[in-house]
Amino acid sequence: MERTARLTFDDQTIELPVIEGSEGELGVDITSLRARTGLIALDPGFVNTGASQSSITYVDGENGVLSYRGIPIDQLARHSNFVETCFLLIYGHLPNKQELDRFGARVTANAALHESFKHHFEGFPVDAPPMAMLSAMVNTLACFYPRVELSGGEKFDEEAAWLLSKTRTIAAYSYRRSMGYPFIYTDPRLSYAGDFLHMLFSQPLEEYIAPPEIVDALNLILMLHADHELGCSTTTVRIVGSSQANLFASCAAGICSLWGPVHGGATIAVIEMLEAIERGEMTIDQTLALARKKQNGFRLKGFGHRLYKQFDPRARILKEAAVKLLDRRGVGDPLFDVALQLEERALKDPYFIDHRLFPNADFYNGILMRAVGIPRNMFTVIFAIGRMPGWIAHWREQKAEPAVRIARPRQLYTGLQEMAYVPIEER
Ligand code: CMC
Repeated sequence: MERTARLTFDDQTIELPVIEGSEGELGVDITSLRARTGLIALDPGFVNTGASQSSITYVDGENGVLSYRGIPIDQLARHSNFVETCFLLIYGHLPNKQELDRFGARVTANAALHESFKHHFEGFPVDAPPMAMLSAMVNTLACFYPRVELSGGEKFDEEAAWLLSKTRTIAAYSYRRSMGYPFIYTDPRLSYAGDFLHMLFSQPLEEYIAPPEIVDALNLILMLHADHELGCSTTTVRIVGSSQANLFASCAAGICSLWGPVHGGATIAVIEMLEAIERGEMTIDQTLALARKKQNGFRLKGFGHRLYKQFDPRARILKEAAVKLLDRRGVGDPLFDVALQLEERALKDPYFIDHRLFPNADFYNGILMRAVGIPRNMFTVIFAIGRMPGWIAHWREQKAEPAVRIARPRQLYTGLQEMAYVPIEER
């Protein structure tokens, strides 16, 4: 039986259809609301708004569940790698051997950048933020892609491979530029993560081949960040894509959105906070007290999430991986010790308990990135490489809808009512 929700406004009552998702979540379909009542739904930050139906990723924040195409994230973390996860997200199923080989070969074959990209990079100041270079250069890919106006058509597979592969090369080049190092060419004999680390850290006469545990840790970081349904950056990609902008432009916009310190930039913010505690600039008590006070705008970085009212499952996996890698390498990280203490104290703090604030993916992400050897200015860039398959999958899913409507929210105007224009000499 079709379920409906009833809305009464003044002397009118209307029924609105209720749509059920595959995991039993319910949504009221308000597409006819304004036409029937003159009302709009006001929901800043889209806290209660389902902007699309999607079959890519499922998050149950109450129970700390995350799955890609139905497969729980911990299973993927244990058995998969980033390239296979990209296929899964974009095409909707785990690839068979032949599909994976073909997909992997296409990604590998598209790693190199047009030589003229070097000149683009040389135009940036040496201290330009790698995220700014990444978004600019991903957008620039559209200039090199033949017939980009046909984006999303029969050449979609190639476009996706370009983005997955060249974003990694652009990311490495943006780091090399920020260090004043020469650019290192891609090595097709290496794995996706191994090649990225090679382009990042090799020197002309000194090739860097990452040990397997480092490659595995980077694969894990990328996989865990590969999609998270309608986060701010994915919503951005969908909004830009809804205007029928090409895949490159849409994903470049996603990178800009990810840059912010309460989204992808939070990994850096966590490390800065842990360092301030480690240096003795503030104690754990002072940090928690600061986070409890609303007025100062300070938040405990790496804690809280719009969806999770539980431990973010990615935080658990990243924490375990950090323990394992540090152990394997026989090194410690003083910031990890601070993070453990801070987490323990926060989880016992009544404010964090009442607000249901738990560690999110960013809390231990920076610790693991440090153990991998990733420089701090590259943390958000790595997140962007990881999120690329999610953006591509969402862009493709939206493109395949029979009638995509341009994203165009409404507003409640609260400004002045009609005013007469006053000539400047009378003001
Ligand atoms: N520290 C202290 N208080 C917090 C925190 C925090 N980290 N996060 C939320 N709160 C409080 C907030 O003040 C509010 O309190 P009250 O109801 O008393 O006014 C309540 O919890 C709900 O917060 P909200 O701002 O309505 O929650 P939101 O869903 O809009 O924001 C968030 C989610 C992730 C932006 C926020 O929790 C936050 O700023 N966290 C710190 C930054 C961070 O770690 N970001 C990474 C997010 S995960 C990865 C990603 O998406 O990129």
